Amino acid sequence: MRVEFLSRSADETRAIGRQLAPALRVGDVLFLHGDLGAGKTTFAQGIAAGLGIVGPVQSPTFTLVNEYDGPVRLYHLDLYRLSGADDIAGLGYEEYLEPSDGITVVEWPERAGSMLPETYLLVTLVAGAGIRHRLIFDPVGDDEAASRWNRALTSDCKG
Ligand SMILES: Nc1ncnc2c1ncn2[C@@H]1O[C@H](COP(=O)(O)OP(=O)(O)OP(=O)(O)O)[C@@H](O)[C@H]1O
Ligand SMILES: [Mg+2]
Repeated sequence: MRVEFLSRSADETRAIGRQLAPALRVGDVLFLHGDLGAGKTTFAQGIAAGLGIVGPVQSPTFTLVNEYDGPVRLYHLDLYRLSGADDIAGLGYEEYLEPSDGITVVEWPERAGSMLPETYLLVTLVAGAGIRHRLIFDPVGDDEAASRWNRALTSDCKG
């Protein structure tokens, strides 16, 4: 089931991430699709905050991956600058698609071509006019994970 939000500020986008975070489990993978400036990193900041990770979460644009330790480990990847198959292999991308000890969030996953985990939460972010951004959630794969994510997204602690 698709869940859609309209966000009117970066803080609102972070709040949606914070709302989803408690429903995330070790092994979960999120793909963030959207143009430059669509709000992917902003959303990832909300996830990190919701996971109890303290400290600034910045786009890992130049390092491809940032790792955050907290109550739950977060792997934050940004593949925008990925240059090809060598980079993917060097990064060990496949392991991030089946994280055994944390949660993986990937910006620009399409840069890695068709490498997909079986189950993941596809998040599409679209910047509209001004500060209006849309966030669209499409769970792919396992039904248990999909309903776990959807329950968190549709519970009304956030408007
Ligand atoms: N409703 C909103 N949701 C998210 N970001 C917003 C919103 N309104 C304004 N912004 C601003 O838009 C920018 C989004 O930048 P962000 O780095 O999150 O995008 P991104 O998708 O990660 O881009 P990139 O592809 O370059 O990594 C931020 O400066 C943020 O403050
Ligand atoms: Mg970013």
